[in-house]
Amino acid sequence: MVVTHCKALFLHHPCRLCVRSGHRADRADRAEERAEERTDRAEERTWRLIGLSADLHNQRCRLLHSSAGRSTDVCLFYVKGDFFAMDARCAHSGGPLCEGDIEEADGVLKVFCPWHDYDFDLRTGRSGTSLQQQVYEVKLEDGTVYVKHASQLSLQPFPADQHCSS
Ligand code: FES
Repeated sequence: MVVTHCKALFLHHPCRLCVRSGHRADRADRAEERAEERTDRAEERTWRLIGLSADLHNQRCRLLHSSAGRSTDVCLFYVKGDFFAMDARCAHSGGPLCEGDIEEADGVLKVFCPWHDYDFDLRTGRSGTSLQQQVYEVKLEDGTVYVKHASQLSLQPFPADQHCSS
């Protein structure tokens, strides 16, 4: 197969590693490993109670602290009457997606990372850059919001988080 561009580095031409042919294979292997890890984590997910929907309507995004640490915190967006949940740290370089602008284009709601302006579909986590942000199922039951996640989620920091920030 002829390599015409480097997907790993977002170049419109093959990079040195692509030319040496190992790059795409390495990248494919890593992508497969990540997909397996995601599947493993997805199987461990359970519904986490977040709070009353009425209390969560008044902000466009709430940061949900994860018991597994800051790298797994979640953004809970409330846009146009619907809740959406995705990893709070941008898949590019960890930017704070809760602080990003939200825009709708062609019926697709997107959050734009405040650091480098990469966009992520609120429903699928897909970006125009080919990066993928992890998204989570959200359900509303009897006026209460739940997010399906592997870790406990809380609107308040867990004690370990509070210790880290002081
Ligand atoms: S950190 Fe989000 S676009 Fe770079």
